[in-house]
Parts: sequence; structure tokens; C-alpha cells
Amino acid sequence: MKKIISFSGKGGVGKSTLLVLMLKFLLEKFKDLNILVIDADPDANIGDIIGKEIHFKETIGGKMTVLKDQIQKRQIPLNVSKAQIIESEVFDALIEMDNFDILEMGRSEGEGCYCSVNNTLKRVIDILSKNYDVTLIDAPAGLEYFARKTGRNVTDLVIVSDPSKMGIHTMNRILEVSKEVDLKFENIWILGNRFPENIRDILEKEVAKIKQEYVKLLGFIANSDEISKMNIVGENLLNLPNESEAYITSKELFAKIV
Ligand SMILES: Nc1ncnc2c1ncn2[C@@H]1O[C@H](COP(=O)(O)OP(=O)(O)O)[C@@H](O)[C@H]1O
Ligand SMILES: [Mg+2]
Repeated sequence: MKKIISFSGKGGVGKSTLLVLMLKFLLEKFKDLNILVIDADPDANIGDIIGKEIHFKETIGGKMTVLKDQIQKRQIPLNVSKAQIIESEVFDALIEMDNFDILEMGRSEGEGCYCSVNNTLKRVIDILSKNYDVTLIDAPAGLEYFARKTGRNVTDLVIVSDPSKMGIHTMNRILEVSKEVDLKFENIWILGNRFPENIRDILEKEVAKIKQEYVKLLGFIANSDEISKMNIVGENLLNLPNESEAYITSKELFAKIV
């Protein structure tokens, strides 16, 4: 299996939550899968949801801050290219968990630096993801990610929306941008999160309006008290009980992607 799956959508719709449920599903269904999680949303950490504390200095943003400082102080050897250094920093930033790896982007300090870093990073993501069967990307809520064509090799884009006007609006904007920048996804999946059953037809109709044949409705996940509870008490979401309704539905939906 070679899959690069990116979760996108408005902030707060459940991208990180659903990415972790997909991770749980993959870990349980396929025992020997190599999985990489790239946490590219600067506003929140996957680490928080799975009970792993990640310090800023361990993130790409943190490492780049140190690197920038070293470059300014001319502490970098002249015979290595900046690209080579950044590449090795990215490999260095891989955090090994029991049965998967995480790359945490963290925040970037200073605009100018970030763009060139981002370009190198695209290349490194290409290199890194080759070493993994599945790469799961938690994409930022904004659309810069697409504008910069980072999603070039993404096989599956999962756009999450909650039952809100803004959620659906952002979904449509992401679809527009993906068309404009001509990104080649194998599939774009629309996933309705926290949708009560009696209003699901609204999103169904919305998706039916989309005239791109690779855009499909993945399905719906209901609001779950168990997810809320685990979030409030700060429990590792990978430990969500297997008999939880939300997890049972998630498994059915994610099986369509892999
Ligand atoms: N199906 C669900 N049932 C209950 N709570 C949920 C569900 N999906 C997400 N949440 C909660 O909604 C909040 C935002 O989810 P999160 O995954 O952090 O969104 P995003 O990554 O899109 O910003 C979190 O508190 C999360 O626990
Ligand atoms: Mg998030």
C-alpha cells in the first residue's frame, strides 16, 4: 500500500480527531504497516490528542529557528548546502512512537524563512513518505498549503465539514482551490462530522452539486459523548473503546479509502 492521505477543512471541524481515529483503525487492521503522521497544523497538536508531549525544539519550526540563528552567526560549514542541512534536520525531527512516527511542523518564526523551508519540506515530504506505506497529514485550516502545491503527491484528500455554514463554505473553497491549482488527487472524500441524522441530506445535496467525478461523499460520523469526554479529560484518543459508535462508523468509512 502507498497512500498519502491529507485531512483538511475549517478549524475545529474534527480533522485531527478523525485523523487519529484513522490511525487507530490502520494500526489495528494492518499489523505491519509503516505509518507516518505529519502534523502540519500550527494551531493545534496531534500530540495533545494522543497524550504525547512534543516540545517546540523537537518540531520543524523549532529546528529551523535554531538553524536560522546559526546561519546568521555563520556557524554553518561552507561545504554543505542549506538544502542538505534542512533535509537532515527534517529526518532528525522524526519522533518515533511504538508503531508509527510523527513529524511535527510546529510554528514558524519569521515569514521569509518559512517559505524556503516549506519548499525544501515539500521535497523532504516526498522523500520521507516513500519510506512509509501510509502518510497521514493533518493540514492547516488555511489554504496556503494548496496554493504552495504541497499536496502534489497526496493520493486522498479528506475534506471534513461539521454541520455549519462555515464548515461547508470552507469545504467548497478547498474544492475550488484544488481545481484552480490543478492538484491531482486520486480521490477527494467529503466527510460529515457531528452530523445529526435528520440533516445529513443537506450535505448529500451539496456534494451532489459538485461536478468533479473524483469527489465522493465518504459518509457521516455522529457526535460522540465518548470523544468529548476523552478530549476534556485529556485521554489518549487511540484508547477510544472499540465498541464506541463513532469508532465503529469510522472504521467502515476509512475502509473505503484503504
Ligand atoms: N464526532 C465528534 N464527537 C464529539 N466531539 C468531537 C467529534 N469530532 C471532533 N470533536 C471535538 O471537536 C473539537 C475539535 O476537533 P479537532 O479534531 O481538534 O478539530 P480540527 O483538527 O479540525 O481543528 C475537539 O474538542 C474534539 O474532541
Ligand atoms: Mg487539528
